[in-house]
Amino acid sequence: MSTVIKFLQATTVAILILVLSTTVRSCPPSERAALLAFKAALHDSYLGIFNSWTGADCCHKWYGVSCDKETRRVADINLRGESEDPIFERAHRTGYMTGYISPAICKLTRLSSITVADWKNISGEIPRCITSLPFLRIIDLIGNRISSTIPSDIGRLHRLTVLNVADNAISGNIPPSLTNLRSLMHLDIRNNQISGPIPKDFGRLPMLSRALLSGNKISGPIPDSISRIYRLADLDLSRNQVSGPIPESLGKMAVLSTLNLDMNKLSGPIPASLFNSGISDLNLSRNGLNGNLPDVFGARSYFTVLDLSYNSLKGPIPKSMGLASYIGHLDLSYNHLCGKIPVGSPFDHLEASSFVYNDCLCGKPLKVCAN
Ligand SMILES: *[C@@H]1O[C@H](CO)[C@@H](O)[C@H](O)[C@H]1NC(C)=O
Ligand SMILES: *[C@@H]1O[C@H](CO)[C@@H](O)[C@H](O)[C@H]1NC(C)=O
Repeated sequence: MSTVIKFLQATTVAILILVLSTTVRSCPPSERAALLAFKAALHDSYLGIFNSWTGADCCHKWYGVSCDKETRRVADINLRGESEDPIFERAHRTGYMTGYISPAICKLTRLSSITVADWKNISGEIPRCITSLPFLRIIDLIGNRISSTIPSDIGRLHRLTVLNVADNAISGNIPPSLTNLRSLMHLDIRNNQISGPIPKDFGRLPMLSRALLSGNKISGPIPDSISRIYRLADLDLSRNQVSGPIPESLGKMAVLSTLNLDMNKLSGPIPASLFNSGISDLNLSRNGLNGNLPDVFGARSYFTVLDLSYNSLKGPIPKSMGLASYIGHLDLSYNHLCGKIPVGSPFDHLEASSFVYNDCLCGKPLKVCAN
């Protein structure tokens, strides 16, 4: 008798533990429902990436979903249409999805990252409610066909470190609130239809290290405040309609190494500071820059790329250019430069194409000077 009772007690305890552990370990049903609504708005006819999204526990083997280990709340959605995952190898193709990103994801209130990248035909908008997710650190929607604006209250996301919406069809301006993103390290809005100015107080982003804004319709001046961003290493404003002068202060930044301002409407002279700075990749091609080239090259000048082609630069090639530590790729073509090309490094390894279509440059590698 007593053994039977003991057995029953033991079984009850075991069942209880089992029930408790599964309810603790499973994701909350409301989160599972939110994920299923997210899935329902997307159509993947080639890979079957959502085939694993079945069963009660959305934290267990749902492709691209991961949960916080303690709380079992959904923390990351990570769906990349171009990756090394075996799913892609088996299908011999990259991802392709249509549909839109359902606002249901905003019910996942512990979400820390949302990556829905390179699916090529996901359209619709960035759900407005995304700005109400207080734990969001990463928004990566690169390579789709999303066409809304960037939510105007994006600045609410105080933990956001990555905002990548490159290669979409996003329009509207850069929301002024964006400069409240105190944690933002990586901003990539390349190749969209974004217009209007760069916010004047852009320099308030203390953690920013990459600002990639190329291939939009951004206009207005380059705000001086940018030079206050201590960690900024890569600034790409190319292929926009940015106008006015290049701020001298850009050449005095601590870690700026890539500055691409090509294909804009910049005017005025090239600030001397740019030639004697930490910048190693400088493209100012296809603007309206004028004046002489500052004769300030020195040991600090180290350029893997120095492209100043298609401007209105005049005067001679500065002699000090020969004092630069290194100039790999130099392009001075299509300007109004005149005079003898200096001899020695770096000029002895450059080809004529670096110097063609100027007013009256001469000497090696162009034709000899007249006298
Ligand atoms: C791309 O998405 C749009 C809108 O959802 C749809 O009408 C179109 O058929 C899709 N294109 C292809 C090739 O699937
Ligand atoms: C500089 O920018 C121009 C215009 O966008 C581009 O054609 C050129 O290839 C760039 N130069 C280098 C060296 O990348």
